Amino acid sequence: HHTRPSRKPSKGYYCIMAFPTTFVVIILFMVILALFAPENGECRMNVPQTIRKWGYPVETHNVITEDGYVLEMHRIPHGRNKGMSNTTCRPVILLQHGLEMDSSNWVDNPPEQAAAYVMADAGFDVWMGNVRGNRYGRKHIKLDSGTDAKFWKFSWQDMADRDLPALVNRALRESGVDSLHYVGHSQGSLIMFARLSEDERLKKQISSFHALAPAVYVANIKGLFRRFQFAIPMLRWWNSHSTIGELVPVSLFRLASASICAHTFSFGICSSILFNIAGPQSQYYNETRTPVYFSHVLSGTSARNVVHWTQMVIDRATRKFDFGSRRKNMAAYKSPNPPIYDFSKVTVPVHIYWGAKDWLVSDEDIESRLIPALNGTRIETRRKFADYNHFDFVWGTTASRDVYSPIINDVKQVEAAKLESTTCTIGLPVFPPSNEIIRVT
Ligand SMILES: *[C@@H]1O[C@H](CO)[C@@H](O)[C@H](O)[C@H]1NC(C)=O
Ligand SMILES: *[C@@H]1O[C@H](CO)[C@@H](O)[C@H](O)[C@H]1NC(C)=O
Ligand SMILES: *[C@@H]1O[C@H](CO)[C@@H](O)[C@H](O)[C@H]1NC(C)=O
Repeated sequence: HHTRPSRKPSKGYYCIMAFPTTFVVIILFMVILALFAPENGECRMNVPQTIRKWGYPVETHNVITEDGYVLEMHRIPHGRNKGMSNTTCRPVILLQHGLEMDSSNWVDNPPEQAAAYVMADAGFDVWMGNVRGNRYGRKHIKLDSGTDAKFWKFSWQDMADRDLPALVNRALRESGVDSLHYVGHSQGSLIMFARLSEDERLKKQISSFHALAPAVYVANIKGLFRRFQFAIPMLRWWNSHSTIGELVPVSLFRLASASICAHTFSFGICSSILFNIAGPQSQYYNETRTPVYFSHVLSGTSARNVVHWTQMVIDRATRKFDFGSRRKNMAAYKSPNPPIYDFSKVTVPVHIYWGAKDWLVSDEDIESRLIPALNGTRIETRRKFADYNHFDFVWGTTASRDVYSPIINDVKQVEAAKLESTTCTIGLPVFPPSNEIIRVT
């Protein structure tokens, strides 16, 4: 008799096995990194805990939108100087974060640098909004964000139409005023422009609108996202066929990034990912705070929202969400194509701040698209920073001097003009305005 030669696995077998093996190795590697991540208290804190850590008062308000989403709003009612708590004429300001972000954006730097603290110490009543789908917007009165795909059937259009009015109304009601000042970063500006183009009531509620890196037109997007265009068909398929409406890989990525980026050796790699998205290496980025930022970014959104964003890039126009079929668009908009937003209907005074090194919102998109489109209003400020990228407006070490300080001064001027009496002094000056690195256009 003869023995059969032992069968050697084929080349294909090794190739197929390489995938699960690599996957398991990567997972193990991440678990080890997570287990040995250095303790960094700030990374584990939520927004109210962070605010308390720096010695500021904080309130949490749950806002219910007309379609049942429960959004957590955070408020710093006054600054560290307690005497301010009974000033009667504190300006009310609402800070609204961008895509895949949350209210942590405004409190992630120390008090001299982060917008919320700087404004609270200037005498403002500071509100921070959150939108549906992020860490503070995952609850609904009927739907479960974990199991109901219906929860995730939204895009920024729904944030503009339902989240924004609910957030503004709550801040007005609690603070007892008729109108407030608004600061939007990126998508936070987009939703305000979108809603202001259609909502007469909201126009009366906004005293001034400060748009930081406003992502309203994004046809000229650069960097990593531009290179990921090949993924758009996959994303669309995911959005229409998957029963998981959340952009899941993104949430998983956050868990991984939070543990990996906690290690000092990875600061360089992690921040370079950020720069590949937002714009080249920034001198205003504090690399030692990488773990704090990475434990808060990618706060959650829907696949449909990202599909809406890709439609803006491909169409080179800002329209309502395209359902992808004439029938569905007819049902939603009574028109086979989604309507284009008419920003000439925005009549609220606007202040625009943008960075020449921003890869998400390019110079061109601001100067030749947004500014001309806003021909129905007064653009009070047009400030272009020669070396700001997209995130420098929230995390930049000099943003308080370059951006928040001029906003504070503008807000105070508007408030002073409203007041008949001069018996109350509006806040305190924070920093002298500086024009050093600012190029005013
Ligand atoms: C604030 O109000 C309290 C009592 O309501 C008063 O004792 C205190 O002097 C006030 N502080 C300022 C700075 O006006
Ligand atoms: C960077 O952040 C650290 C704390 O995380 C802080 O001690 C340092 O002062 C910051 N640097 C700048 C330039 O703001
Ligand atoms: C604003 O610009 C649009 C085209 O972008 C034009 O149709 C409209 O008439 C302009 N409105 C004013 C007030 O100039």
